[in-house]
Amino acid sequence: MKTEIKLIKNGKRLDGRKNDELRPIKIEAGVLHRAEGSCYLEWGGNKVLAAVYGPREAVPRHTQNPLRAIVNARYNMAAFSVDDRKRPGPDRRSREISKVISEALENIIITEKFPRASIDVSIEILDAEAGTRCAGLTAAAEALVDAGIPLKDIPVACAAGKIEGEIVLDLGKEEDNFGDADLPIAIAPRTGEILLLQMDGHLTQKEFDKALDLAIKGCKTIAELQKKAILEKYQKNMEG
Ligand code: CDP
Repeated sequence: MKTEIKLIKNGKRLDGRKNDELRPIKIEAGVLHRAEGSCYLEWGGNKVLAAVYGPREAVPRHTQNPLRAIVNARYNMAAFSVDDRKRPGPDRRSREISKVISEALENIIITEKFPRASIDVSIEILDAEAGTRCAGLTAAAEALVDAGIPLKDIPVACAAGKIEGEIVLDLGKEEDNFGDADLPIAIAPRTGEILLLQMDGHLTQKEFDKALDLAIKGCKTIAELQKKAILEKYQKNMEG
């Protein structure tokens, strides 16, 4: 990635944020009626819908695990979610993201409770503006909570990265395109266990440590928003 435009001007990022500031995030749990659990999430310019189906008998049967449930997360970018012409349906990038999100969720769901079952998670990116895998995983986690699936913790994701030689939280679109590095992570916030870690670009060991610390701080802030959203759903249900 090569910097072609100035990403920091007068100490501020292009959208006016400080280096350790997240984009605005809105989380709503339980937005769909047919799914067992669901979540709608806005994160900067990203709009994401996540829905959970199951646990239900895994089909075809040869995919069943007699000891635990399998977790299938499917990340899909709507054809209208990006500026470029995007063919509908899975491509290499969405397969990769589906795989890493499935693995992250599988490590936090108490899958031993549901032998031979599958837990299916659909993640639909309706509008994309950098950081969609983090937004998608965070929404999927909220939908799992809404579905009442037993979890060891509520996973949460956030990225940090490097632009103009500085370590910053939660890269925006231009920062992602023209910055030096992007480090998306997902954690279990209670224990700090890392559930997903990817890196695009180059960081020194010192920069990596700083970016990781910052991304973990971001995750912890977002974890509070996840908890608030689920409480709000139950409060609304009790009132209505
Ligand atoms: O979205 P995320 O940062 O997790 O993944 P990425 O592969 O680093 O993509 C960064 C951004 O590029 C996405 O969020 C989209 O805004 C954009 N993108 C796009 O415009 N067209 C695509 N086919 C894929 C990504």
